[in-house]
Amino acid sequence: LENGVGRTPPMGWNSWNTFGCNINEALIHQVVDAMAGNGMRDAGYQYVVIDDCWFNPNRDANGNLQGDPNRFPSGMKALGDYIHSKGLKFGIYQGPLAKTCAQYFNSWPGSTGSLGHEAQDARQFAAWGVDYLKYDWCSPTGTIDDQVRTFAIMRDALAAAGRPILYSINSNSVHAKTGPQRNWGDVANIWRTTEDITNAWDTGQANGYPMGIQNIINVTVPLAGYAGPGHFNDPDMMEVGRGGMTDTEMRTHFAMWAMMASPLIAGNDVRSMDAATRTILLNQNLIAIDQDTAGQQATQVSFDGTRRVLAKRLSNGDVAVALFNQGSATTTISTTATAIGKSGSSFTLRDAWSNATSTTAGGISASVPGHGAVVYRVSGGSTSSPSPGGTVTVVSAASG
Ligand code: DGJ
Repeated sequence: LENGVGRTPPMGWNSWNTFGCNINEALIHQVVDAMAGNGMRDAGYQYVVIDDCWFNPNRDANGNLQGDPNRFPSGMKALGDYIHSKGLKFGIYQGPLAKTCAQYFNSWPGSTGSLGHEAQDARQFAAWGVDYLKYDWCSPTGTIDDQVRTFAIMRDALAAAGRPILYSINSNSVHAKTGPQRNWGDVANIWRTTEDITNAWDTGQANGYPMGIQNIINVTVPLAGYAGPGHFNDPDMMEVGRGGMTDTEMRTHFAMWAMMASPLIAGNDVRSMDAATRTILLNQNLIAIDQDTAGQQATQVSFDGTRRVLAKRLSNGDVAVALFNQGSATTTISTTATAIGKSGSSFTLRDAWSNATSTTAGGISASVPGHGAVVYRVSGGSTSSPSPGGTVTVVSAASG
């Protein structure tokens, strides 16, 4: 979406994965303070996104959305002011249909959906200082055409609201089971590619509920052709630091999100991160790969069902390559400079985790533990255009 924001994938934190509906002003202030002090803000994590359950489930007498006065006694504008005062940006959650997911699934009263209120709600968000809207389709009903129409109304309302607001959408039940159905780049800055992520490496789902890390990667890798500055696939908020995976799996999760030019939205309790989590979330080499201004998502170079090689062309001509082992036993994974779109006689490989460099005449290879991913930044020689690794697979849009 060409609205001036989201030129690189957004980075930040979202309340849902750890806290669900258990959110309030004190918690968000603590999270903001933590992010400002623990290196996250300075590493680029800027959006603090309040997910579902922030609202009063009834509009006021003028039809305005209101925050829940018990959870957010100082109000949503004050919350935004606090976030901004710490050099961070304010994200909020809403849905178009009658009820958000919390209302829908918990039989909450009221009807807060934005359908028919888009202009009013977008102006309200702008007045609160909102910088990021997560707009969630929460209903098993509706076709892809309904969604395109409905999501576009809020896109236009945000554009008219007088404040740059990053637009994140989730087509939810419509992409579930069947896979992503459309390139949403004309509608939103980021769009979810699967059903909800969970804190596990693999849930055995092709695209159902809930999705493990590896399951999401399998769905999102083929969508590389959709990504570019201003518009990115969203494989969901991260589960790094949530305890359901080995350190190797968490590292791979983060590395693959970076390779896929994904939003890096932490979902852990950032007030109390252990050293391993912090090292992962603050890995500067991978953040730079994710945030590269070319905005390219890695394309697949090869995959034999276990060993997957991905390459991401970077703005300065370097290519990031991931050697990803989807099996459980250690194995050697190999590719070549030529296969990732590089030509020349000597290249430097910088390991994204160890930061160690080595040189090669063209072979790129590593022993990779099960569920692990070795990532190198490859420099030197020249780089073919437009994209390394040959074919970009674009899933065609399904008809309504
Ligand atoms: C469904 C979304 O996929 C989740 O990320 C979260 O926003 C919940 N809805 C909130 O109800």
